[in-house]
Amino acid sequence: MLRSKLPAVGTTIFSRMSQMAAQEQALNLSQGFPDFDPPAALLDAMARAVNNGGNQYAPMPGLPYLREQIAGQLLLHRGVNADSDTEITVVPGATEGIFCAIMAAVGTGDEVIVFDPCYDSYEPAIQLAGARAVHVPLSAATFSVDWERLEAAVTPRTRMLIINSPHNPTGSILTSADMVQLEALVERHGLLVVSDEVYEHLVFDGRQHHSVLQYPGLRRRSVAVFSFGKTYAVTGWKTGYCVAPPALTAELRKIHQFVCFVAVTPVQQALADFMAEEPGYPTTLAAFYQAKRDLFCNALKPSSFSITASAGTYFQLLDYSAVTRGIDVEVAESWTRDNKIASIPVSVFYQQPPDATYLRLCFAKRDELLLEAADRLCKI
Ligand SMILES: Cc1ncc(COP(=O)(O)O)c(C=O)c1O
Repeated sequence: MLRSKLPAVGTTIFSRMSQMAAQEQALNLSQGFPDFDPPAALLDAMARAVNNGGNQYAPMPGLPYLREQIAGQLLLHRGVNADSDTEITVVPGATEGIFCAIMAAVGTGDEVIVFDPCYDSYEPAIQLAGARAVHVPLSAATFSVDWERLEAAVTPRTRMLIINSPHNPTGSILTSADMVQLEALVERHGLLVVSDEVYEHLVFDGRQHHSVLQYPGLRRRSVAVFSFGKTYAVTGWKTGYCVAPPALTAELRKIHQFVCFVAVTPVQQALADFMAEEPGYPTTLAAFYQAKRDLFCNALKPSSFSITASAGTYFQLLDYSAVTRGIDVEVAESWTRDNKIASIPVSVFYQQPPDATYLRLCFAKRDELLLEAADRLCKI
């Protein structure tokens, strides 16, 4: 009767681990969301938006006022000019933006290169578009791009490449030298790029985020995808935006208007008001999350785990190989059950998992919870 279009897909690891954390009453450092409140002024703006009648459909590409604020922020933080009418589309979450970008640009027989470990929403979208995901592993030690391997993976069927910096789950980031290499490669082969930049403001130790929008050869060929959920600690509001040249934007919007049609109106109004009131807010995030990363990593110093401080995102990898040689999925489950700490095993983000021993922990949590989590981990 029914032939599954995604036979290999089950419930995501994030839902599974969060559910297990709840069952086991474990500290949930698995799924990536803050356990603290968003800025109070943003919550006030949301209440105002709802009470002032912002409760009906917004225009399909997003409220013009919000798109103007986004354009202002792109100029302020990245020195990038984007036309709010023809290049910026507000979407109900980065996930939907990524899905629409893939659907709009690839089809049957195309190949799309993704890097492993790879965020889990890319491949199902590629499959539903009729295309094939080609997995290129990041280097094992530093999770950086292996350019020779990438070049070797490009075929005449390659149509698109999906990048993600800062990178979930490893916390690695692409440098400006990487972006220059990437720009040359996509121009040489005529590829499109989907650039998942949802953690753009979460980069640490004085590093810079490099957006595809800042490199002319990439700007011409890319859809850059952002998430307000990550920047403003409102993951449950599921709102983001895509920035792409007009022709790509037009195609993306054709898909978006029949997937969701439009993002939620009062959320858009609230975000626009807050961005107008506090345009500098995103620049506070790096120091805020870096302090959390440092608190967590310092508290883990007495443990036997090997930890390289995350360069970006709100995730920290922990290498448990000095403690156990177990398979990461089993280690994550047993820690949730026995030690009451839920994490995400990194092998699930690979097509062919390497012999690695990493768990991903989210440090977007209150300091007390991070210290309690570290204390429990030190006892393992
Ligand atoms: C790398 C990456 N891309 C996209 C998303 C999805 O963002 P949104 O909640 O805005 O759909 C996430 C959320 O965890 C993510 O980590």
